[in-house]
Amino acid sequence: MTGSEPLRLAILISGRGSNMAAIARACAEGRIKARVDLVLSERPGVPGLDTARALGIETCAIPWPGATGRARFESELEAALAAARPDVIVLAGFMRILSQQFAEARAGRILNIHPSLLPKFRGLHTHRRVLEAGDRVHGASVHFVTAELDGGPVILQSRVAVRPGESEDTLSARVQATEHIIYPRVIGWLAEGRLAWRDDRPWLDGKSLDAPVVEDFP
Ligand code: GRF
Repeated sequence: MTGSEPLRLAILISGRGSNMAAIARACAEGRIKARVDLVLSERPGVPGLDTARALGIETCAIPWPGATGRARFESELEAALAAARPDVIVLAGFMRILSQQFAEARAGRILNIHPSLLPKFRGLHTHRRVLEAGDRVHGASVHFVTAELDGGPVILQSRVAVRPGESEDTLSARVQATEHIIYPRVIGWLAEGRLAWRDDRPWLDGKSLDAPVVEDFP
């Protein structure tokens, strides 16, 4: 994905939206050649929607319709996306699982960030589980979304050392600070055409990305 036009993003959030804001600021400050056209949430009233509006970004809330409502949600989501026509969908703390059909129809065009060194600690409460397991390193992963939950190819990971006596709160804050660096970076790679999706897998700088790039943080 490259060209003279900025990469168009739709960002899906469910809460605070700090990753969304980090990406939007990177766009607004010209650090990455992308623009956020739409921020969408399945939870009306979450703080991230206010943050997006304050940043001058169009927002949309599509309330989650209940236990069996994913198809209805996705058809409304499809309509919102058809209007915004994003190049890439960015999941940033979006707490719902999209269907296999939705993911497969957009292979290579949906990104997610997960707060662990995938494939370790898929799912929820990763910081707590890392501490309980006694792991000495932790981090976050930006990956392409596939039909498998938290299972798509990982592009970039931030790695942080777990400090002795560290609490879940401090660990999560330290990991999240790295998310705000690595997520815009990956989007920048896509916007520059350095990162691509071909033959059902990611390519970086013309080489098949068989293992994630790992960046160490203090
Ligand atoms: C982040 O920690 C992200 O890794 C996870 O959900 C959290 C979202 O935080 N998927 P925010 O809404 O971006 O502040």
